[in-house]
Amino acid sequence: MTEQLPRMYTDLADWFHLVTPPEEYAEEADFYFSAIADASTAPPRTVLELGAGAGNNASHYKRRVEQVTLTDLSPGMLALSERLNPECEHIVGDMRTLRLGRLFDAVFVHDAVCYLTTLDDLRQLMQTAFAHCRPGGVALFAPDHIRELFQPSTDSGGHDGSGRALRYLEWTWQAQPSDSTYVTEYVYVLHADGQPTRSVYDRHLCGLFGREDWLRLLRDVGFVDARARPMVHSEVPPGTLELFVARKPC
Ligand SMILES: C[S@@+](CC[C@H](N)C(=O)[O-])C[C@H]1O[C@@H](n2cnc3c(N)ncnc32)[C@H](O)[C@@H]1O
Repeated sequence: MTEQLPRMYTDLADWFHLVTPPEEYAEEADFYFSAIADASTAPPRTVLELGAGAGNNASHYKRRVEQVTLTDLSPGMLALSERLNPECEHIVGDMRTLRLGRLFDAVFVHDAVCYLTTLDDLRQLMQTAFAHCRPGGVALFAPDHIRELFQPSTDSGGHDGSGRALRYLEWTWQAQPSDSTYVTEYVYVLHADGQPTRSVYDRHLCGLFGREDWLRLLRDVGFVDARARPMVHSEVPPGTLELFVARKPC
């Protein structure tokens, strides 16, 4: 359950674009939107994103549709997105319980889905997506990992901003191969001009579900044509990442 968000999305949210800036999302946003369009019977004009965070993906795909609604549990993350995507609608809400009473051509959930750690949470998310798809509308879910393809990893990076800079070490691992969760640990080194450099440790607990769990839950909540699609991206080794696409019956 997402009881407490990591520091990256709470007191450190304002640093997020120095961890991962919007310009790095162009290729993947294009792939996600094309996957939605491929599964749609007509070109999507309205998109709801659940867990849209800082709006990095949206800053690219918004050009291809008429209206984008961006939702997230973290007001601090949505504040970043509002600066980046002022023409989009922003609403604070939990992807498991949000009910806007409106229908969209497409519902998109990117890496925020990783913060759901139980199958019950995942089912609730899918019910939210189903409740907001118009008949014939498409839902796309892009988790960072699925159980069959999970590999531990380390990474590092960061960027310079105006009067400040951030570098990070990222370590993704799993205590037991049978676990239904994994952990991504971060150490951030934060520099702001005129202040002592500081470091912060941040632990992200994430859910890990199998391909059949994903497909079964999608069918259970009422979606049809549910399928796993391999992710195609210049920085993703082929066969290491999958996303899930499904359609609401007409
Ligand atoms: C890595 S960020 C998303 C970044 C986003 N993909 C982008 O393009 O900028 C993950 C987000 O998931 C959000 N999140 C985690 N649990 C959530 C929940 N239950 N409902 C809505 N958002 C949630 C966090 O607040 C955070 O903003």
